[in-house]
Amino acid sequence: MKRILFVDDESNILDGIRRMLYADRIRWDMQFAIGGEAALRACEAGRFDVVISDMRMPGMDGATLLGHIRDLYPSTARLILSGYADANLTTRAVAVAYRVLSKPCDGPELQATIERVCTLQDLFCTPGIRRIIGSIGELPSLSRTYTALALAVHEPAASMASVAGIIEQDIAMSAKVLQIVNSGFFGLAQKVTSLQSAVAFLGMDTIQNLALASDAFRVFVPDPRIPKTFCETMQQRARRVALIVRTLPLDKTVRDVTVMAALLHDVGMLVLASKMPDEFCAALSLMQEHGCGQVEAEEQLLGISHAEIGAYLLGLWGINSLAVEAIAHHHHPTRIPHSGFDISAALYVASLLAREIDAHANDLQGREISKSDLACLETLGLLQQFPAFRECALESLNEDANSATQENGTNSLL
Ligand SMILES: [Fe+2]
Repeated sequence: MKRILFVDDESNILDGIRRMLYADRIRWDMQFAIGGEAALRACEAGRFDVVISDMRMPGMDGATLLGHIRDLYPSTARLILSGYADANLTTRAVAVAYRVLSKPCDGPELQATIERVCTLQDLFCTPGIRRIIGSIGELPSLSRTYTALALAVHEPAASMASVAGIIEQDIAMSAKVLQIVNSGFFGLAQKVTSLQSAVAFLGMDTIQNLALASDAFRVFVPDPRIPKTFCETMQQRARRVALIVRTLPLDKTVRDVTVMAALLHDVGMLVLASKMPDEFCAALSLMQEHGCGQVEAEEQLLGISHAEIGAYLLGLWGINSLAVEAIAHHHHPTRIPHSGFDISAALYVASLLAREIDAHANDLQGREISKSDLACLETLGLLQQFPAFRECALESLNEDANSATQENGTNSLL
């Protein structure tokens, strides 16, 4: 049974949550603490899987409490409930909380968020992923530029100039970030030529994630046995998925994060190709022999796929938690409850469309939409809309191909 701790300085709010989630007591062991100090005492008495805290509390506020919990119990998932008036405080909470929920939060939203957090936690605790992460050994660290950037964006005094200044010192990263910003994924009306403008247009978080995308493809170098075209094909596919994401009816507030998730969604393949080349080559052979997809081959050989491996790694590197979740489930989106057409559903649809269009264009048998994909779309309530999504995706990919031909440029963005 998952252990969940709710923290607030007002007992009547905690009573409200207790009543709201009354039916969930059979699946969750829910505890309630009044204030930060009481919450830390409760954690000392027994480890919690999830802690959900109010932001504004006298004495120890929510961000401080979750910071202590992160340091003392790193595997505990941390959520924060924050009111509209707490905008400044929330900036601090983002650094320590897995997710920020706005107050008042209704029962179904709270239930779905806890459920999603617990699913991801379980996924990352499976023996399969532990074995693979163990056999990968030490993960490569990200560049000094990215590390400095990640620290700088959480500084209260961070300015656009200081963030841009850090990236500017790394010529390769600067070039890649500007290339991606101007690639059309973000729908900017004019060409961005300076990093400071890029930060101004897209915000510090997105710029940080773009820097991470650039780094991820630098630190994992595929084994010499892997076909030379692998990296290029993978990056082209990531780019196509990101272009398709742009055409989906996503809320503006989550579109940039979804584009990021699309650019990084198959990074787990790169991890396998560089750190577990024997298994990676075995999966490629299995695909050829049985005509199955990469995920099926990986799951058959390893028990898990590149989706969970990539998400786990990106989670360790601190990428946006919604993107981590979407990447973890991009081949099995029905593992989690969905709230409308969210990031996870969008990434699944975009990667499915890219695969289908690719299979059609290259006459690849067995890579078309499967019965299980159709069932998945039906469960997500997206089966009817899928043909319209396909039409928009094709239009966008054709436009992109035409402009690439005109410019005679390359497609490799990462
Ligand atoms: Fe994938």
